[in-house]
Amino acid sequence: MSQQDLCTASPRHRRAAVVGLGARAQLFTEALAGAYSDRIELVGFCDVNAHRMAVHNDWLAAAHPGRAPVPAYAAEDFDEMLRRERVDRVVVCTVDRTHDDYIVRALEAGCDVVTEKPMTIDADRARRILQAQRRTGGDVRVAFNYRYNPVHAAVRELIASGEIGEIGSVHFEWLLDLRHGADYFRRWHREKANSGGLMVHKSTHHFDLVNWWLGSRPETVYAQGGLFFYGDEAGRRRGLARDYDRAHGSAAAKNDPFAVHLADSSVLSSLYLDAEHEDGYHRDQNVFGPGVTIEDDMAVLVRYASGATLTYHLTAYAPWEGYRIAFNGSEGRIELLVEESTWTRPDVRSDGASAVMHGTAVGDEAGRTELLVRRFWEPPREVKVPTGEGGHGGGDVRMLADLFGGVDGGGGNGGGGDSDRPSAHDPLGRAADAVDGARSLVTGLAANRSFETGMPVRVRELLDV
Ligand SMILES: NC(=O)c1ccc[n+]([C@@H]2O[C@H](COP(=O)([O-])OP(=O)(O)OC[C@H]3O[C@@H](n4cnc5c(N)ncnc54)[C@H](O)[C@@H]3O)[C@@H](O)[C@H]2O)c1
Repeated sequence: MSQQDLCTASPRHRRAAVVGLGARAQLFTEALAGAYSDRIELVGFCDVNAHRMAVHNDWLAAAHPGRAPVPAYAAEDFDEMLRRERVDRVVVCTVDRTHDDYIVRALEAGCDVVTEKPMTIDADRARRILQAQRRTGGDVRVAFNYRYNPVHAAVRELIASGEIGEIGSVHFEWLLDLRHGADYFRRWHREKANSGGLMVHKSTHHFDLVNWWLGSRPETVYAQGGLFFYGDEAGRRRGLARDYDRAHGSAAAKNDPFAVHLADSSVLSSLYLDAEHEDGYHRDQNVFGPGVTIEDDMAVLVRYASGATLTYHLTAYAPWEGYRIAFNGSEGRIELLVEESTWTRPDVRSDGASAVMHGTAVGDEAGRTELLVRRFWEPPREVKVPTGEGGHGGGDVRMLADLFGGVDGGGGNGGGGDSDRPSAHDPLGRAADAVDGARSLVTGLAANRSFETGMPVRVRELLDV
């Protein structure tokens, strides 16, 4: 049987499998078993960890009584799963470094793919995906949920309508607070070989938004970045470090506001603590422990093909979470402020454990969103955008509707790189394909290279997209 025969091709998108059944996968498993179950059947799970797959099946059984468990396959049986379950669409939610392997194998088996961001973590892997997509003609969609956030759509509409003329520059600052930012230093993300670092793992979202908003692609990148706050050296120097490898079972972690206590959360216990005997995955490592190879403070300067420039900063140890963006145009300026959390506070119980799943909680005050258009010679005008419900400012639920709801995103076919072009089905061009995935990556990859060399990097020398 040829690779192409592993998947049934017709009718399209009736039988989906999810590979990588960690935390993020629940968004997709629940959508496929729930809201979209009349259109698409969830027919397979695949992971290196059988326990985590069983937990997802328990969650589905609780939410959908009477539902039969989804057949669970070990990672080495991925191809067998595609064949036996006649899969035609694969949703990839594994650790970033493994995305390329599953995307390419799924495409070669004749399946279409939805992959979590980042599409992959380096240029060679991105080239493999692009080549496989072109060779097979399969559809690759990258799950850029932020494109579906209503306020981001409003920005795209304002820019596309010429409200502030031609864009000369963008100024973009993204802050991760002590609760969320620290989480990247507790688990596999803390090693660049797994995640590509935050320039890839996190900023792929932000660089994708800028590419999409400007309708352009990055050409030259210069960057400086380092590990300023987390890691053993910085932790020791500032007296923040405690003496433990992982928080579970450690007295030293008890009143550490940077520790996550897996046993305090039924979700984290079942998904990770109870599963670690199979693969040794510790999700609660010390953020001030050794072995961190990613940066936490990064400054990037980008020149785009359109001539616009971007100054971008990502900080992973901020007191509040959110972002500020300003677009300078030939006829005015657009300014966006999004406060997702306003402050963080230690949240440790009297027995030393954490009262919430992280030792740090966010303040109760509601954040705010402010979108201003400041046209030349006119007073500022606030554009009111209804706040989206659900994760990522309402982006998740809208993205799911586009991916699984039967409305073809219109772009999504990977080869042409024109998915940001509006179509009748997708007037904002939100469906992101493999070329978009690669273009969102190259800024971060070039920034990583620039961190190492101290020199500007021509993006084409890394990846010609
Ligand atoms: N779009 C978003 O906003 C968003 C949010 C969170 C996570 N994500 C992405 O989702 C993906 C998963 O993140 P997560 O937070 O769920 O991580 P996680 O650690 O909770 O889950 C990862 C899963 O992958 C499995 N896995 C690891 N290696 C594997 C392999 N070789 N084969 C099969 N399975 C393997 C693990 O066992 C685990 O179940 C990441 O790529 C992440 O970037 C995206």
